[in-house]
Amino acid sequence: MVDILLGLQWGDEGKGKIVDVLAPDYKVVARFQGGPNAGHTLEFDGLKHVLHQIPSGVFRKDCANIIGNGVVLDPVIFKKEIDSLTEKFGMDLTQNLLVSSKASIIIPTHRLLDAAQEKAKGKDKIGSTLKGIGPTYTDKVGRHGLRVGDILSPSFKSKYQTLVNKHKMQLEFLEFETEGLAEAESTFFAACEFLKTFEITETEYTVNKYLNDGQKVLAEGAQGSLLDVDFGSYPFVTSSSTTAAGVCAGLGVAPRTIGEVYGIFKAYCTRVGSGPFPTELEDANGELMRKEGNEFGATTGRPRRCGWLDLPALKYTVMLNGVTQLVMMKADVLNIFETLEVCTGYQLPNGNITDQMPFDIVDEEVTPIYETVKGWNTSLEGITSFENFPQELKDYVTYIEDKIGVPITYVSTSPDRTATIKR
Ligand code: GDP
Ligand code: IMO
Ligand code: MG
Repeated sequence: MVDILLGLQWGDEGKGKIVDVLAPDYKVVARFQGGPNAGHTLEFDGLKHVLHQIPSGVFRKDCANIIGNGVVLDPVIFKKEIDSLTEKFGMDLTQNLLVSSKASIIIPTHRLLDAAQEKAKGKDKIGSTLKGIGPTYTDKVGRHGLRVGDILSPSFKSKYQTLVNKHKMQLEFLEFETEGLAEAESTFFAACEFLKTFEITETEYTVNKYLNDGQKVLAEGAQGSLLDVDFGSYPFVTSSSTTAAGVCAGLGVAPRTIGEVYGIFKAYCTRVGSGPFPTELEDANGELMRKEGNEFGATTGRPRRCGWLDLPALKYTVMLNGVTQLVMMKADVLNIFETLEVCTGYQLPNGNITDQMPFDIVDEEVTPIYETVKGWNTSLEGITSFENFPQELKDYVTYIEDKIGVPITYVSTSPDRTATIKR
């Protein structure tokens, strides 16, 4: 079976932490989309580590990790991450990390293009992480991208040069400087040599072999469902299918292999980058959430926008993904509030009320409709069972379950691996 764990909001829900918690039950953890725009934080034994390209199963010794074909891979960031894991934890990842030969490669000019396109957009910029994600997926579907398997080919440099020449024309058109490119290229080619020391293979065969042998695979989502290229607040989205549908295409597995779909959400909402965010709090409460939740991007360090839980949005992404179990994160961040607001619907500019995601949410601002619920307003430290949660937190959990219709099976109360309360 392939179980899926993915984010139901705008990313940074805490996917890395929960993948690490669940990984011992799986033979394989596999990334199926996205790239180094992701920042997945793991904390255990007093250590904190942020992963960008590498699946969050790497700290579980019996777990194989796969970077699937749907991923866009930056060899330079990959090398940096591996070097840091080797240095910090003495890991040898050449043994349990496989890279799909069909994963797309991010080259230095993809990053320049990302920056150039954002600059050209001016105030309408997406707020991209500037890791080259959009331009790399553009080349993939445009059918002139490079793939990891290409680095093994004698014609790699000439394929690379053909692509770079295309990029240079675009950069020139956008009047964007390519200063420093030569240096970035030499780092890039050195990182490609490093990448060759890992097993580069058709991972769709590997995954299916594990499945045929009765082994369990966990597909680790990156970003969040509200950043999905089809269903997010387009164009303020990322360039991949972040929903469950992306798993089949991004790993080469059939729909009938999909088992549980763990949907993970914060007890409130955050968003980093531009785009609509109906429940955003631009006041002291938003500031408090940012401070309590340490809401600063794991990849870019940017402050995250914060706001109350948005049930129409959550219901939408639960539907899109066929979520079978919910995981609620960062309950502790709400400890400071005496009452909590929960958005149950949107009022549209024409006065109508809806609990669905409007198509034109980008152009037409909606007004959230709130219900107030009692907060627990006390520390959750040291609580190790659901029964011992304050009654108001238990009520918050059942309130959300009733509204969404899917059980919350885990509640997280601190960044540490151990602070994950199973229901
Ligand atoms: P991901 O991208 O979905 O893996 O999430 P990030 O790592 O970008 O952001 C989640 C942040 O919340 C990280 O700093 C985590 O260490 C932290 N975190 C995870 N779970 C909890 C929790 O239950 N409580 C608190 N306070 N922090 C948490
Ligand atoms: P994880 O996996 C939060 C956001 C960016 C921007 C938009 C497009 O850590 O949850 P891109 O670089 O993909 O072109 O940026 O998507 N974004 C994320 N926000 N968490 C992420 O990943 C994100 N990856 C991209 O801020 O608004
Ligand atoms: Mg993150």
